Amino acid sequence: MNVILLGPPGAGKGTQAKLLQEARGIIQLSTGDMLRAEVSAGSDLGNKAKEVMDAGQLVSDEILIGMISNRINQADCADGFILDGFPRTTPQAGALDVMLEDRGLKIDHVVELAVDDDAMVKRITGRFTCANCGTGYHDEYQKPSVDGICDKCGGNEFSRRADDNETTVRSRLSAYHEQTAPIIAYYRNKGTLKTVDGMADIDEVTKQLADITG
Ligand code: AP5
Ligand code: MG
Repeated sequence: MNVILLGPPGAGKGTQAKLLQEARGIIQLSTGDMLRAEVSAGSDLGNKAKEVMDAGQLVSDEILIGMISNRINQADCADGFILDGFPRTTPQAGALDVMLEDRGLKIDHVVELAVDDDAMVKRITGRFTCANCGTGYHDEYQKPSVDGICDKCGGNEFSRRADDNETTVRSRLSAYHEQTAPIIAYYRNKGTLKTVDGMADIDEVTKQLADITG
């Protein structure tokens, strides 16, 4: 099964992709995580992307299309994948159609997480991640069971993203509405789009997503 999760920054794409990965054994492909790994590694691509990401803008279609095209060829995608953060522009959506057709693959579910923009700033500025295993948390909505200790791996170091400040979040939301929101209509016209209430609590969103993906 191949799934696309769509929604603005903070909608819960990463949170739900990780839960769906655990539940269904299909791999999360987060283009944001891939780019952040390049930035951490100090690669040429990462150095190019960092400035754009810190400004809350979109990295070039050419880079992203190449990245996903290579990634879906890898063995861990054979049982299915969840696209989290891709496609994000009309050219990316078109390129995805071509690369899937070339490989005899298709997308089974395109799911939009519908949310109110105003709530996203609070969601994003409260987000933190286990530095060891990458499990995501929130200061208010998703705290570790024991303060300062990761539920999953017991780690006690956490990190916050460089682009999770209020100014950058507002630029990311603008980029979403200008460049990404048009692809919702693209998938609606194809008849593949389903919408879940991304303002519900995390467990309820997981349930709605499970109802769609079967
Ligand atoms: P990316 O990493 O994809 O960031 P994003 O789209 O801005 O989305 P986020 O990761 O911020 O939000 P999310 O929906 O995953 O929310 P999460 O589940 O963490 O991209 C970063 C940058 O990379 C882009 O700005 C761009 O520069 C570049 N980039 C990436 N892909 C690109 C592409 N295809 N083309 C061009 N450039 C690209 O949840 C947020 C918080 O809320 C968490 O703390 C969570 O615990 C909490 N939460 C989640 N769900 C709920 C809920 N239902 N109720 C309450 N709290 C919740
Ligand atoms: Mg994310």
